[in-house]
Amino acid sequence: MIVTVNGKEHQYDGDPAMPLLWYVRDVLGLTGSKFGCGSGLCGACTMHLDGKSVRSCVLPVQAAEGLTVVTIEGLDPDGDHPAQKAWREHNVPQCGYCQAGQIMQAASLLAENNTPTDKQITEHMSGNLCRCGCYQRIEAAVKSAAIEQASKGA
Ligand code: FES
Ligand code: FES
Repeated sequence: MIVTVNGKEHQYDGDPAMPLLWYVRDVLGLTGSKFGCGSGLCGACTMHLDGKSVRSCVLPVQAAEGLTVVTIEGLDPDGDHPAQKAWREHNVPQCGYCQAGQIMQAASLLAENNTPTDKQITEHMSGNLCRCGCYQRIEAAVKSAAIEQASKGA
């Protein structure tokens, strides 16, 4: 099967049931997406499949066949997606482990809605856990990113 990750097509002939996260990290060597719970519960492994955020630890690689996968490495070539800029501005990360997943989750919200309400932000981000408790800074950063995204007319 062909799996397209960050704009690059890859031929994959291994086990189609292998989690997408394993494929991305272990086969392609893109280690920005993290393994947390392995059960779809924490969001550390969040990446985009055709623009929607997915839990790649519980998604078989087969589910990505013919679709487009984007990981934190492919979100913006310069690391300047509005969410990434806002994350730097608000100095969000503590240990950093959950942050790639948080940013990918935020980016999928902003792609559909660049004027989210506080409630929409809380709901959309609620499945992404942060052991360090950076939730206030995460929310503030999503709000800033939404303003920037809206100003770009995106
Ligand atoms: S590692 Fe995938 S949701 Fe926790
Ligand atoms: S910054 Fe440490 S888990 Fe979120």
